[in-house]
Amino acid sequence: MCGIVGYSGPQSAATPLIEGLRRLEYRGYDSAGIALGTQGKLFIEKKAGKLSNLEGSLDSSLPVVHSGIGHTRWATHGGPTDGNAHPHVDNEGKLAVIHNGIIENYSELRKELEARGHKFSSETDTESVAHLLSDLRKKHNGDLSAAMREAVKALRGSFTLLAIHGDAPEVVVGVRRNSPLVVGLGNGENFMASDVAAFIDYTKCAIELGQDEVVTMTPTSVKITDLDGKAVAPKEYQITWDASAAQKGGFTHFMLKEIFEQPKAVADTLIGRLSDNKQIVLDELRMSADEIRALKKITVIACGTAYHAGLVAKYAIEKWAKIPVDVEIASEFRYRDPIIDAGTLVIAISQSGETMDTLMAVRHAKAAGGRVLAICNTNSSTIPRESDAVLYTHAGPEIAVASTKALLTQMVAVYLIGLHLAQVNGALKDAEVESLYKELLELPGKIEQILETVEPLRALTRSFAENNIVLFLGRNIGYPVALEGALKLKELAYIHAEGFAGGELKHGPIALIDKGTPVIAILPAGHEHALDEKMLSNIQEVKARGARVIVIAEEGAHVEGAEHIIRIPVVPALFQPVLATVPLQVFAYEMAVARGNDVDQPRNLAKSVTVE
Ligand code: F6R
Repeated sequence: MCGIVGYSGPQSAATPLIEGLRRLEYRGYDSAGIALGTQGKLFIEKKAGKLSNLEGSLDSSLPVVHSGIGHTRWATHGGPTDGNAHPHVDNEGKLAVIHNGIIENYSELRKELEARGHKFSSETDTESVAHLLSDLRKKHNGDLSAAMREAVKALRGSFTLLAIHGDAPEVVVGVRRNSPLVVGLGNGENFMASDVAAFIDYTKCAIELGQDEVVTMTPTSVKITDLDGKAVAPKEYQITWDASAAQKGGFTHFMLKEIFEQPKAVADTLIGRLSDNKQIVLDELRMSADEIRALKKITVIACGTAYHAGLVAKYAIEKWAKIPVDVEIASEFRYRDPIIDAGTLVIAISQSGETMDTLMAVRHAKAAGGRVLAICNTNSSTIPRESDAVLYTHAGPEIAVASTKALLTQMVAVYLIGLHLAQVNGALKDAEVESLYKELLELPGKIEQILETVEPLRALTRSFAENNIVLFLGRNIGYPVALEGALKLKELAYIHAEGFAGGELKHGPIALIDKGTPVIAILPAGHEHALDEKMLSNIQEVKARGARVIVIAEEGAHVEGAEHIIRIPVVPALFQPVLATVPLQVFAYEMAVARGNDVDQPRNLAKSVTVE
């Protein structure tokens, strides 16, 4: 949720810190702040609002120093004010802390610290850590790393913490528990951040950190220990994407850029998945043929947009592999008693790999004896590391808060899994699998075709900008598309939007239709289910009550009653969501622009939701 960056090296620290925060602002944008380590004291500046507010307040008096920490916040405890912005400091103003996550026992810590004479100046859970570290650093004769190790033993919750002290400003100390932190190894300089995007301009060499590992960083050294001070061998890896991937590249918004990157993202996720002897290659699953044949059930867990990819998985895997699939919102999963055993494959879908609700569901599934396969877009993030196997999507960095290209690659990943399972358990013949795989390979070109013809849709969308309600209808595999269209519109345009299964309309939602209510209907593909006629009836029903109807239909399909038709290329029915989602992304994007909303950083949201 919050973005964290730390620097120690020869540069004027404010530069890599502010640049890093700019790259991390997608994680939270309620307030921002930095602490610079000048000898003997700290320079602190923090401001409510976007990073630009902080930048505006940093004038030429900014000290040129060579280490510091920076933070961009998504508020949990305490509103988004200057006072609650991070960093938080001890009473001497010499020790500063930034934090991502939640300290669950902060109020008891605060009471104890206040009883010992500490004065608090914010409403945050984080400030308790600054005071606690201050006491413990004194106890450990100025050793901030030892203080951090002891402090963490006293903390409950999920957190990444970075701390710096004015007496040894070149030392930055960090720790993570259930919240992301990576180290960047530079040449005579080092970095710590929530995400590699923060330091990708300076180095592509990173270290992943395990739970409860404490990092002590100077310009020339990085030491990692466990909470007992025992050295931990660093696990280095190379970052495979370059800095331009995290920039807008001429587009007005990251979201638009990411929509247009979808053909490549889908193609990259599909590369090399069919062997010469016509077998789907999915070694990442790490399941033998016997284990696949013994599978009794699949449970998909995910949140938000990734949950919609899970719904697509249900339709595809059940149809092809004949294995029952449950799809569950991750935050609900662990608060009941899901039936999971050795015959269950749990598939956790997450772009970031850090979503706390999904991570907790993964742990719950593993504890119940399930085998967990992650579908993830972020290398070395927590969910894949804690899963038994991982299938990485190749969408590249997704910066806009609203997920677009990650979703399309997640759908492609579940198709590959479905085809692989069906091929191994014999539910589909090799020739059928090959033919479907070839259709998958056509998808990037077909997405491209849609993107080449979106201008009329953009113009049309603007005519709906004053509407405050939009409904989406889908049937069968068009239903997750309807849900996704509504979610995108809610988060970007701040419009009341709902997606319904077409058949449900008459059971209540039709009462919402009024004169002029926009309804977007996704006509089923392939005439496979004879459902298109039913959807055409739904269109007539809403039209008769005054709705303005837009229909998404494949080329050549018969449509009646639509004010506008958006044509998409013909694909096998189960692949339709990959195409039908694209115009809905464009619709939501354009609505947000027309309403003057912040497209890449919608209000109240954050990418990578690392609290439950
Ligand atoms: C919506 C959106 C969110 C995420 C959800 C899960 O556009 O981006 O609904 O899909 O927070 O995030 P990940 O996939 O990172 O687990």
